[in-house]
Amino acid sequence: MNAVKDLNCTDEICKLDTTGMFEALKGLPVQCDRACWDLAGHVELPEIEAISNIVVTGLGGSAIGGDLLRVYTAGKMAVPVIVNRDYVLPGFVGPDTLVFAVSYSGNTEETLSAYEEARLRGASVVAVTTGGRLGELAARDGVPLIGVPGGISPRAATGFLFIPTLRVLQRLGLLPDNVDEISEMIDYMRTLQKELAPEVPAEENQAKQLAQKLFNRIPVIWGSSGTTEVVAQRWKGQINENAKAPAYWNVLPELNHNEIVGFQFPKELLKKLHVVILRDERDHPRVHKRIEITREVIRDVVDGCTEVWASGEGDLSRIFSLIYTGDYTSVYLAALYGIDPGPVKVIDYLKRELRDD
Ligand code: F6R
Repeated sequence: MNAVKDLNCTDEICKLDTTGMFEALKGLPVQCDRACWDLAGHVELPEIEAISNIVVTGLGGSAIGGDLLRVYTAGKMAVPVIVNRDYVLPGFVGPDTLVFAVSYSGNTEETLSAYEEARLRGASVVAVTTGGRLGELAARDGVPLIGVPGGISPRAATGFLFIPTLRVLQRLGLLPDNVDEISEMIDYMRTLQKELAPEVPAEENQAKQLAQKLFNRIPVIWGSSGTTEVVAQRWKGQINENAKAPAYWNVLPELNHNEIVGFQFPKELLKKLHVVILRDERDHPRVHKRIEITREVIRDVVDGCTEVWASGEGDLSRIFSLIYTGDYTSVYLAALYGIDPGPVKVIDYLKRELRDD
């Protein structure tokens, strides 16, 4: 496939995208709307008396919704959310745990293993999936099942995988009702979509400009603990899976205590790094101060440093404004590399090899 040299050649960009990643991105506001009203609204929930902790177990594109839940609910809910990306569950999981087992395909072996373990430990379980083995197990066990529409990549299904978990917590009375905030986020995403879409020329399109900066560079994405950290992780994953390129992420203030020391050698390779700092004016004032100083420290060391600011009213809008920008950036970066953003052959290969073992 040919690399797209000019991101204003919309036809060329779209021709590379054989699985409809741009369509899925465009559909994200509608997806969130459906997830809010259709998917989680009616499912019968378990009788839950005292929940002490919540675990979201899943991998990759099915796990990031768990991190969104963790970050979003942290200051709003008395019960902690822990994300588990493993075959086994943490030792504290028991009858007072609510476990969301999330797998878009329903066939990810780590998630299936954690699901079985959750059942054995007597936890309340809710499955979120398009079907597969997880769907079968949930039906067998009478576990509440949130049925997600299929046909897109798991990483493009963030609305379907995240919003229902939020709604379940509201329906169980663990989290205050926030459908107004979800609606505000959906409206805001519609506005953003019009600014980030392939038809919008690079001169006015922040995602295209970011992709140009990250092209032929190693992206290093920094967020802030508790707010944009999940977005930094999301950007990294989307660049890996869509643009098939390496990327690394970290969070402030932690990175001021280790990673920042490593910006000395090897000098020629450091010149290949492009640092993206995800910022939110609502971040801790000391973190803002730290960012200013940190930028100075790396200024002459790396290729460049770009700040991307959260926008929108509610916390959800602000998180999703950055996620949406990063998602589009990763698909434009795929175009610059001349690669189809959809297929993730190496993940499929690994799953196949493990299955046939
Ligand atoms: C593929 C993707 C992956 C998968 C992961 C787990 O688009 O995003 O990160 O999400 O391999 O698979 P599922 O989501 O089917 O459990």
